[in-house]
Amino acid sequence: MNKNSVTINGKEYTLSDEQLDITLLTYLREVLVLTGTKNGCEKGLCGSCTVIADNKAVRSCRMAMSKMTGKSIVTIEGMESPDGTLHPIQKAFLDSGAVQCGFCTPGMVMSAYVLLLSNPEPDRETVRKAMRGNLCRCTGYQQIIDAVELAAKRIKDQNLSILAGCLS
Ligand code: FES
Ligand code: FES
Repeated sequence: MNKNSVTINGKEYTLSDEQLDITLLTYLREVLVLTGTKNGCEKGLCGSCTVIADNKAVRSCRMAMSKMTGKSIVTIEGMESPDGTLHPIQKAFLDSGAVQCGFCTPGMVMSAYVLLLSNPEPDRETVRKAMRGNLCRCTGYQQIIDAVELAAKRIKDQNLSILAGCLS
């Protein structure tokens, strides 16, 4: 891998010198046109821009691309399977009524993914704490917590893969 490369949803990209200075959020939305990652505040406050870098949740609006080289990034676009099947977390959000305007949803799904990667059977309070950095103005949060619990249950009961589709 080139030293100025980054892997996004399983695909490697080489960054120009100018691109090293922009944020991950700008790179995703404006260079790659991966607009599933949302820009809510651009100040690190709302969580709508959350993506995964080497299995950790990061706020892409606060991350310079120069800090992302060599990392593997997963965005909401990388969650579904190559055949278009939604990731179990995405499906659970839909089935639980956890998506209203949908603006917060990509960031919520990514935060839920990081939680379930490290803790496949979190209790409700643990889910609540893990999601509290992601703001939602529509749902009142209960359905979101329900969705994460439902996803965890389905992954366990149906022996589904937790891995993002782009990595499987
Ligand atoms: S857009 Fe990054 S935290 Fe709000
Ligand atoms: S569903 Fe609208 S902000 Fe969360």
